[in-house]
Amino acid sequence: MDLFEALRRRRSVRRFADIPVPGELVDKILLAAFLSPSSYNRRPWHFIVVDDRKTLKPLSRAKPGAIGLENAAVAIVVAVDSSVDDVWIEDGAIAAEHMQLAAVALGLSSFWVQIRNRKHSSGKDAEEFVRDTLGIPDEYRVVCIIGIGYPAERKAPRGDEVLEWRKVSHNMFGKAYKGCDLCGRR
Ligand SMILES: Cc1cc2nc3c(=O)[nH]c(=O)nc-3n(C[C@H](O)[C@H](O)[C@H](O)COP(=O)(O)O)c2cc1C
Repeated sequence: MDLFEALRRRRSVRRFADIPVPGELVDKILLAAFLSPSSYNRRPWHFIVVDDRKTLKPLSRAKPGAIGLENAAVAIVVAVDSSVDDVWIEDGAIAAEHMQLAAVALGLSSFWVQIRNRKHSSGKDAEEFVRDTLGIPDEYRVVCIIGIGYPAERKAPRGDEVLEWRKVSHNMFGKAYKGCDLCGRR
């Protein structure tokens, strides 16, 4: 699939069909994560592939917006060693987005569950909850969890309505960008 088609088709899907995702597709999604850029190429990630229903269930209770993990075929937890560099959030977030795009290209759907800076419903830190559930060492911070599976809901690909030209400046903040030939605004 063309990259721009994948970019348009990537929509957050939170309801998944009860169909397993073949291991080779999971490996390709991980390959996409390992192809991410990282600061100084330090590659501080650790990915936890969770396909055990007994573990997916508690993860889906990590916080209110995680409930879709309950029916995901697989969840990939993005943990990053924060002792390796100070831009671990960016390193983890880019790897997560690479995985979401790879999932689309492979005919799968996904959604992002924010864990860092979020609360478990008990008021406990969601990150602490996930760390305890999966035995993640303290130096690793949990950025997010990507829930993946075959979709059980249809979402339209994004069209050009996403183009918010007022959020683009030209040479100086606030100076209107008139667009270019490519985007048909000249
Ligand atoms: C940093 C970040 C945090 C997000 N957190 C959650 C979340 O915790 N739960 C969830 O269901 N979706 C989450 N999302 C998905 C967004 O709600 C979604 O991307 C947005 O509504 C746009 O919809 P789309 O992905 O279909 O284009 C998150 C997305 C990002 C980038």
